[in-house]
Amino acid sequence: MYQVTIEPIGTTIEVEEDQTVLDAALRQGVWLPFACGHGTCGTCKVQVTDGFYDIGDASPFALMDIEREENKVLACCCKPESDMVIEADVDEDPDFLGYLIEDYQGKVIEINNLSPTIKGLRLQLDRPMAFQAGQYINLQLPDIDGTRAFSIASSPSEEGVIELHIKLIQGGEATTYIHEKLEVGDELALSGPYGQFFVRKSDHQDVIFIAGGSGLSSPQSMILDLLENKDDRQIYLFYGARNLSELYNRELFEDLANKYDNFHYFPVLSQVDEKDLWQGAVGYVHDAVCTHFNQRCSGHKAYLCGPPVMIESAISMLMQSRLFERDIHTERFLSAA
Ligand code: FES
Repeated sequence: MYQVTIEPIGTTIEVEEDQTVLDAALRQGVWLPFACGHGTCGTCKVQVTDGFYDIGDASPFALMDIEREENKVLACCCKPESDMVIEADVDEDPDFLGYLIEDYQGKVIEINNLSPTIKGLRLQLDRPMAFQAGQYINLQLPDIDGTRAFSIASSPSEEGVIELHIKLIQGGEATTYIHEKLEVGDELALSGPYGQFFVRKSDHQDVIFIAGGSGLSSPQSMILDLLENKDDRQIYLFYGARNLSELYNRELFEDLANKYDNFHYFPVLSQVDEKDLWQGAVGYVHDAVCTHFNQRCSGHKAYLCGPPVMIESAISMLMQSRLFERDIHTERFLSAA
């Protein structure tokens, strides 16, 4: 066990052998900034001012050689090899509730085919997990190394049950296991909640969600949470799917749009087959947003979740439509293969 002191707040945490600094901090209620949790985004970069450590599996893009020479590390990968002192940016987001990360057991109680490539799982946890809508869990699968991150699709109000949407990644051993071997009644270990992708409720601005593929899961949780809590801001969901068979949970969102005047649902298909009789929008999801708002998105907050190419295109469209970087929150697909 090592002691790691986090400056400038002066808090000391205990980090076990083989535990990362980030994991130990989050489990002890110290909220270091992070996003991907596995060494690829660079959000959790901190400065080491004293001590020895294993730098872990940090991507060379997230932590460059020169930064390594300057004793910078990624807290999500770095494992202490002595007591350490680090300097971190611990400014807290006023909307972040900071629920402690803990380990849970989840029993599979339902498996649904949401689309030809996406399965919906419902897990009964051994005890309720408090989380903010939009956060994710790390799931451990039998005989597969490491954990995989999946966003929670259900509302935090569903005590003790969480829903996940799992897209089959070709060649990915974890998603192949879930699609081909996992059965109702199986037990899985998981930890959470992770992530800082959640609706900033204190700003009261109308919200645009832009999602693609299985990136619908966290917006689904956030939308259910906002509507259940009678949030009266206008909420727009633009969801892009490749074709009609990949357009999942359409009925759920159409029902919500019928029930709540402030919720608006816009499914968009990138490919349409003539036999589909599709009357909705066709093309890129970010173009549908641009057309709907007539290139003026100012006054809104945008939350984007989906493949990197969708996120890049949506960010550039939103910035041309008068949103600032601070108005745009993103959740890039996590490496869940
Ligand atoms: Fe650590 Fe992304 S690199 S959170």
